[in-house]
Amino acid sequence: MSTLHRAKITIIDCTMNDKEIKIAYTEYDSIQQLSSQDRELAEAAIKATSRSYAPYSRFNVGAAIRLDNGEIVSGSNQENAAYPSGLCAERTAMFYASASHPENAMLSIAIAAGQNGVLLDSPATPCGACRQVMAEYQTKSGRPMSILLVGAKKIWKFSKVDDILPFIFDSL
Ligand code: THU
Repeated sequence: MSTLHRAKITIIDCTMNDKEIKIAYTEYDSIQQLSSQDRELAEAAIKATSRSYAPYSRFNVGAAIRLDNGEIVSGSNQENAAYPSGLCAERTAMFYASASHPENAMLSIAIAAGQNGVLLDSPATPCGACRQVMAEYQTKSGRPMSILLVGAKKIWKFSKVDDILPFIFDSL
């Protein structure tokens, strides 16, 4: 396990004009290394992959969100014959969480992906649109939303949305 804790974007000031951004995250080798809360959330995301409706891509994604009341809500990708009408697992879960629990902050989201009932070895990373929606709910609640990307052989944890979406667009 790496020792890079407390994910935070660090701007490295190289010269007066040229900057670099450093992103910190934690890597785990297995679900057993996670805290019990994170393990529970990762397992819920894995379970949610089985409820994915993905007859076109056959790529099954599950997402599980921990709310500030301790409750876990989950979602999976839902595809459609008119392709753009489908929705990613992450947004399905977040929109469900917000629609059913509008007053509760989303403190953490776990994401898992599998094919033919087998969890991928490496984590699947969320698309840009899902990252933007995560950013919206993080801003709305004013509390960091951690992100747990769950693979069978590798798990990545980011402590807030900024770490996977630098220079977040925020018009509020
Ligand atoms: N998908 C997700 O559910 N989440 C992601 O972060 C990336 C992609 C879904 C959309 C589509 O149903 C399938 O995976 C293939 O792109």
